[in-house]
Amino acid sequence: MQPIQTLFDLRGRSVVITGAGQGIGRTFAKSFAQAGATVVLAEMNELKAKTVADEITSQGGKAVVIATDVGNHASTQKMAAQVRAQLGKADVLINNAGIFSSLKMRPFEQIPDDEWERVLHVNITGVFNCCRALTPLLRASASGRIINISSGAITLGRPNYLHYTTSKAALLGLTRSLARELGPAAITVNAILPGSTHTEIERETVTPQQRQHIVEMQCIPRVQVPEDLVGTAMFLASDASAFLTGQGITVDGGATHT
Ligand SMILES: NC(=O)c1ccc[n+]([C@@H]2O[C@H](COP(=O)([O-])OP(=O)(O)OC[C@H]3O[C@@H](n4cnc5c(N)ncnc54)[C@H](O)[C@@H]3O)[C@@H](O)[C@H]2O)c1
Repeated sequence: MQPIQTLFDLRGRSVVITGAGQGIGRTFAKSFAQAGATVVLAEMNELKAKTVADEITSQGGKAVVIATDVGNHASTQKMAAQVRAQLGKADVLINNAGIFSSLKMRPFEQIPDDEWERVLHVNITGVFNCCRALTPLLRASASGRIINISSGAITLGRPNYLHYTTSKAALLGLTRSLARELGPAAITVNAILPGSTHTEIERETVTPQQRQHIVEMQCIPRVQVPEDLVGTAMFLASDASAFLTGQGITVDGGATHT
């Protein structure tokens, strides 16, 4: 058994966070950097990622931006090659990128075909691409970790973004099966299911009444913020969770009980 003092120690870990230019990914990047990890912001919006990286480095943290489209196989392979070249290793992959805040909530019959395809592609195939690209590096780590950001919307069966909930439900199957494939390499694969989380990004089709309704469903009746997810992500990234794999952990203030 390793010393208790090091169980949650993330110093020196190389943590790749997709979609870290805003919202939850941005908070993950800043928090992991504060914990002493070197964070890789694998983001399509390079400008936003650079702003986050500048915030991190100005506070003494270590951050690298790699422009990445998770939906593009070649782009994710290139990202992994750059991680290898610049950091020499990857210990943790947080699959956070997704098409989410830009989505208009609407009845499923009104979802255009191309939007359906795009959401499933980025939110599912994007995770597959990143897992595939980074697994060689994760295998070489003593503490390989994959953390997939699913959603509590799949437990609730939230209506009006059927492509989104379908894509996030797929991540649970992916998590469970990949955990079996990568378990022999001691790489853990888990999912976090966040409840509705208020970020700096406004969502035009979510009304104040809907927000209030969600808060009322929670055991802890206050608005959920990205910081509420950090502790669980850090636990799943740390040595403390080395024997926990294939699980989905809901962090939603108790809105749902699974
Ligand atoms: N905020 C919530 O209420 C909530 C709840 C449950 C789950 N989630 C999930 O958590 C994650 C982050 O949520 P958020 O609220 O910060 O979302 P967001 O929409 O604000 O941010 C998503 C980020 O992913 C990036 N991105 C999108 N497509 C990409 C691609 N192809 N390649 C690389 N980057 C890409 C975007 O540029 C953006 O920076 C998402 O997967 C989301 O589905 C969010």
